[in-house]
Amino acid sequence: MDHFNYVDGVLHAEDVPLTRIAAEVGTPVYVYSTATLTRHFQQFQQALAWTDHLVCFAVKSNSNLAVLKLLGNLGAGMDIVSAGEYARAKAAGVPGDRIVFSGVGKTEPEMRMALEGGIRQFNVESEPELELLSRVASSMGVSAPIAVRVNPDVDAKTHEKIATGKSENKFGIPIARARDVYARAASLPGIEVVGIDMHIGSQLTDLEPYRQAYAKMAELTRALRADGHDIRRLDMGGGLGIPYTRDNNAPPLPIEYGQVIRDAVGDLGCEIEIEPGRNISGNAGILLSSVIYLKEGEGRDFLILDAAMNDLIRPAMYSAHHDIVPVAEAAPGVAVAPYDVVGPVCETGDTFEKGVQLPGLSAGDLVALRSAGAYGAVMASEYNSRPLVPEVLVNGDQFAVIRPRPTLEEMLGRDTIPEWL
Ligand code: LLP
Repeated sequence: MDHFNYVDGVLHAEDVPLTRIAAEVGTPVYVYSTATLTRHFQQFQQALAWTDHLVCFAVKSNSNLAVLKLLGNLGAGMDIVSAGEYARAKAAGVPGDRIVFSGVGKTEPEMRMALEGGIRQFNVESEPELELLSRVASSMGVSAPIAVRVNPDVDAKTHEKIATGKSENKFGIPIARARDVYARAASLPGIEVVGIDMHIGSQLTDLEPYRQAYAKMAELTRALRADGHDIRRLDMGGGLGIPYTRDNNAPPLPIEYGQVIRDAVGDLGCEIEIEPGRNISGNAGILLSSVIYLKEGEGRDFLILDAAMNDLIRPAMYSAHHDIVPVAEAAPGVAVAPYDVVGPVCETGDTFEKGVQLPGLSAGDLVALRSAGAYGAVMASEYNSRPLVPEVLVNGDQFAVIRPRPTLEEMLGRDTIPEWL
């Protein structure tokens, strides 16, 4: 459930008509709902209420400071993968002991930054990373809390570009090597083993891969404890999918996912961490756009929007579907027609979807691309020199611009021309 509904024939974000945001901020613009973000975060809190836990929001899915602040205020931890994300989490007021550092390519400066500013744990993804972290932490006279990310070699049954838990993926350490790596970790100065980490992929719509992976995690926990390691935290990763359409095929709910975790590892007495991103932010956002032209083609009509692939790359990159709906609700019985909904960028791939059934729309009309709160604005670029799309946060009947649209001067002002030109 989200908080984007039609009221009096106009699509609203909570109590704010999207027409108002378009008039005041312009389009294209991302619009997020506070109530939806809150609700989705609380669902995970409830799903893990049976144990000590920390829900670490995957910052990569939506890293706007206002969104992080909102979730941080509710008690969220943060799952981060770069110095930039670490800085964002801290700037949003999240304390270091609620920040988990993931990612296959942590650099020495990033390790230093996290150790200086405070960190809950590093999810270590390789032996060279472990060795470097040991050197960095020792040189600073501190100890780095770590979990090793273990690759359980299960098929997450998701899009190949976002599956991470198969042995052919670059992520984690093969589970067969885990005991050796933990033994090495325990022998290294500046390293404190605190737990195990797994993340098998994103947009999972079936709980079975989780069951398989978490069974392996339980087994590994027992084996590592028998080896003498103090495994007290289990990071179960993120990845629970969301509905991208309004049919009845909704993925499992957080509460069902929480039960899978409980069944697999509930008897181990570990603190549980999870790293959901999309499930919290995805359906909490839409991309609001205006029709620039209706272009009649041969055998098909194109709806040319002012939003493009640089603003929302998911359809071009993963053939992802986002529901596209008119902001002015179609009256019942009004005829619909198929449109190819495209952006203005000079690439054929700049197509949001072909054959979308929409009521007759014309230039200036507003449409919303739903489920765009995760991996939307964060993946935007300035391709075709289109300034980064702005972001708005709605709360009840009020809204705030949480990232303004850059002016052309600001965009150009970042480049410099050497004096010899
Ligand atoms: N933890 C780790 C270690 C991850 O790599 C990811 C996502 C997450 C948590 C959060 O996963 P989520 O709960 O959001 O599914 N750009 C792609 C998704 C890439 C996901 C990368 N890792 C997309 O637009 O579908």
